[in-house]
Order: sequence, then structure tokens, then C-alpha cells
Amino acid sequence: MENGKFITLEGIDGAGKSTHLEWIANYLGGKGIRVLTTREPGGTQLGEHIRSLLLDHRQMMHAETETLLMFAARREHLDKVILPALNQGDWVISDRFTDASYAYQGGGRGVLIDRLQILESWVQGKFQPDLTLYFDLSIEVARRRMQSIKIADRFEKEQNDFFHRVRAAYITRASQFPERIQILDASHSIDDITDQLERILQPLLISLKP
Ligand code: TMP
Repeated sequence: MENGKFITLEGIDGAGKSTHLEWIANYLGGKGIRVLTTREPGGTQLGEHIRSLLLDHRQMMHAETETLLMFAARREHLDKVILPALNQGDWVISDRFTDASYAYQGGGRGVLIDRLQILESWVQGKFQPDLTLYFDLSIEVARRRMQSIKIADRFEKEQNDFFHRVRAAYITRASQFPERIQILDASHSIDDITDQLERILQPLLISLKP
């Protein structure tokens, strides 16, 4: 059996990934593909516990502790959810993956890239997503969209300069891996973005047997 494809969605908080994730899952499901949707940090029982610690706005932690917890949750996610699903031919769509660690911990918190690379190769070897969709949005628009959130989590509470660094790190990642990471302008209408998504997904669908 063919392996499934691994698609990840990235962007700063407020970029609208969740709406698009749902659309992609329905679209691929309509093509007869078995799709599993998941998220990071999280996606497993242990990973969701780690997520609660990471997002708890009362929880202080060192930037490297935060990084290690992200990768610990990822190790579990790969082992229990992502790799088994891909091996049985399912497609996996994850709301965030390792690019988020480069953007938030590397860009946002200033954790050394060398350290992130060590953790990346430790936890996932050479394994990478088949496709990453990066939803790019200005910090100002993202902030406006997030105004309705009642209690901001530990990341959402960060100041604008943090998000400027996160966004810059995502853009750097996209320029380093242009074949894997596709940039979408998240300020466009949902219809516009779904049209773009449909086009971007076509090459992955070619491998499917009729
Ligand atoms: P979410 O709000 O998109 O569900 O993501 C939770 C938060 O976790 C988000 O603010 C980004 C952050 N995050 C990191 O800082 N590093 C990571 O590696 C991942 C996966 C998420």
C-alpha cells in the first residue's frame, strides 16, 4: 500500500488555519482519501497534557523548557498518531508541526537554531511534511481577529514584537524550503484561499490511482 501524505498548516495566531484545515479535510475526503486531522502541541493523550502546560498563561518556563516540551509532545505524536496513520495509507493534516518550533521558539524566543536542529533530527530524523501551507498575515490584522478571545493563552498574551519575530522566522523558513512550504495570503477572502488551496493540492492528488 502507498504511504499517505503529511500536510501541515502554519501561521501566527489569528491567521485562520483551523477554518482552512476543515476545508482541506472535507475536500480530500470528497476525493475518497482517508484523512486524519490533528494538532500540535497535542494530538495524543500525553501531548494534550503537555499542551495544557504550554498554553497555561499562569505557567512560567524557560524558553528551552518550552522547546523541549514541544519536541517531547511531537515525539509522542509521531510515534502514536502520525507515522502509524501514514503507514496505513491515511493522509494526515496537522495544525502546526516543527516549523512552528523554528518560528515561535527560534524566532520568537531566540532559542538557538543549532539546538532546534538537534532536537528535530533526534525526534524525526529526516522525516518532513509532504506539503506545508503557511498562512501569512500582518500582525495588526491577526491582532484584530484575536480581539474576541476571552482568555488569551501564554502565546497569545505576547506583545507585537514577539509576533513580528515569529512571522519573520516563518518567512525565512518558507524561503529556505520553497518546494515544501507554500505561502498563502491569509488576508484574502475564504473563497479566494480555497481556490488557491485547490490548486496547491493538485500535485499531491496526481499520485492517486483512478
Ligand atoms: P494553536 O493556537 O495554533 O493551537 O497553537 C498553540 C500555540 O503553540 C501557538 O501559539 C503556537 C505555539 N507553538 C509553539 O510555540 N511551538 C510549536 O512547536 C508548536 C507546535 C506550537
